[in-house]
Parts: sequence; C-alpha cells; structure tokens
Amino acid sequence: MTPLLVAIPGNERLAEDLAVTLRYELGRLEIRAFPDGETYLRFHTSPNGRSVGIVCTLSHPNERVLPLIFAAATARELGATRVGLVAPYLAYMRQDRRFKPGEAVTSRQVARLLSDAFDWLVTVDPHLHRYSSLADIYSIPAHVVHAAPLVSEWIKANVTNPLIIGPDSESEQWVAAVASDVGAPYSVLEKVRHGDRDVEIRLKDLEQWKGRIPVLVDDIISTGRTMIEAVRLLSSQGWPSPVCIAVHGLFADDADSVLARLGARVVTTNSVPHATNAIDIEKALAAHIATQGGPK
Ligand code: R5P
Repeated sequence: MTPLLVAIPGNERLAEDLAVTLRYELGRLEIRAFPDGETYLRFHTSPNGRSVGIVCTLSHPNERVLPLIFAAATARELGATRVGLVAPYLAYMRQDRRFKPGEAVTSRQVARLLSDAFDWLVTVDPHLHRYSSLADIYSIPAHVVHAAPLVSEWIKANVTNPLIIGPDSESEQWVAAVASDVGAPYSVLEKVRHGDRDVEIRLKDLEQWKGRIPVLVDDIISTGRTMIEAVRLLSSQGWPSPVCIAVHGLFADDADSVLARLGARVVTTNSVPHATNAIDIEKALAAHIATQGGPK
C-alpha cells in the first residue's frame, strides 16, 4: 500500500512537498484544541495496513510533542504497520549533560519518549556535541541529513570571496566541511556562554583574510546572541557586513531583526519555517526517507 504522510500543524508545506517528491499519499490529520486546551485529534485518512510518516519539526517542542505522541499512538491503534517521524529540527539536543547538580538531561528523556512512540526518525543536523551520534540516546533507527553541502552550494552561488567563520568550537564540524566544499579558508572563534542570553565571543586574528566577506555558519540560531556578538565584533574590527547562516533558525527573541539592524544578511534552511529560509532541505530529506528511514 502507498505510504501515508501526515503533518502536525505548521508542517503542511513540507509534508505536501515530500508527498509529491516521494509519491506518497498526503493524508488529512485534524488536530485542534478543545476549549480547555486539551488536544482533539482525528485521522481523516485511514492508516490501516500502511506505513505512516508524521512530519513535525520540533521548534516550540513543548506544544508539539504531546500531539505528536497522540498522532503516533493513534496511527498504530488504527492499524499502521510502521510509524516514523520526520523532524527536520530535533529539539532538546543541547541539554546533553547534567551541567549542575539536580538538572534534567532532557535530551535523553525526549529521546526515550520519541523512541517509544516511533519506529524510525529522520532529521537534519541534530546538535551533537557530547553525543557522538543519535544512536547514543535514540533506540530506533535515526537518520541524519547533513545540510553542509546545501549550505556550501548557497554560498558558492551568492557570496564572492567568502571567509567561513564558526562562532564556537562546536561549529567546527559544519564550518570545516562547508569551507572545504566552497574552497574557502575558515576560522573558528572562541565562545563562552555565561547565561541563556549572555554570550562572550573572542575573535581570532583574521587579518590575513581581510578583503573577504565573512560568512558565519552555525547549526542553530536560538536567541541569536552568538551571531549578534560575532557580528558586532567583526564590524568593530572593520569587516564588511557578514552573512549569518544557520541550519535551524529558531529566533527565540527578536534575533532576526537585531541581526538585520546590524547589517547582517541572515539565511536559514527550511527545517523551521521562517522568512529567512533560503536553503531548501526537502529533496535531501526525501532522499533519506526513501532510502533509509522511511515507510516501507
Ligand atoms: C550551541 O552551541 C549552538 O551551536 C549554537 O551556537 C547556539 O545554540 C546558538 O544559541 P543562541 O542563538 O541562543 O546564541
């Protein structure tokens, strides 16, 4: 039977595009809130006997995870043979250690929750810092799409003479791959995070590359403090306005407008729908769903 794709609200566009590319059926899943805030959920397309993929990026995860778990459980109750999760942005990956006594290691708890609810998972560049792969915490097959080749393509097409810059040591994994694809030099800055919105960046000596356009590349823009501090430092040292590229643009505060006011051009992938989306991950996601993780 033709596999079925359904979207959690907010993910309709990506689900539609994936269904076309993969030739899966796009099903209708109704989700709304009861007046008291509880979730009403109904499959208008039957999952019976079919492999089902649920598309749900996990920005704003607290409001999405419960409907997602309900949708997966309902698909199974209605006879789905396999239920997978297409989550271009995978939340809760940054709390990967008990940094202070008593803290929750939420990355593990969310992994357990999703592994219990789904048979497979496909995502884009999860934040892997202290974990070497998703298999460290997910017990289901978890497939990763790497956005670096798409980021590199965008830079090649849009920026002449770039200098690729990573704002912190964690970003080196993406920055090195992108710089090598683009054939540009790269540098990684030093970051110390003092609090959620308190970030200190130290510039390295970049003088040898003066004349190039700085392109900051990171996996996530959340509050934007990392990018904002890096942009401020670069401009204080006479660099031209940079391009800020993030795989996942969460924009928790008004980061996009602050960056725009500072003269930076902000570019993201469509792993999280936003006005800055300029790099399309849909085809790469579809290829992974079809060949590795997806409905069979
Ligand atoms: C963390 O290390 C990530 O790679 C990003 O640098 C971080 O999430 C960005 O957060 P914010 O935008 O809040 O500074």
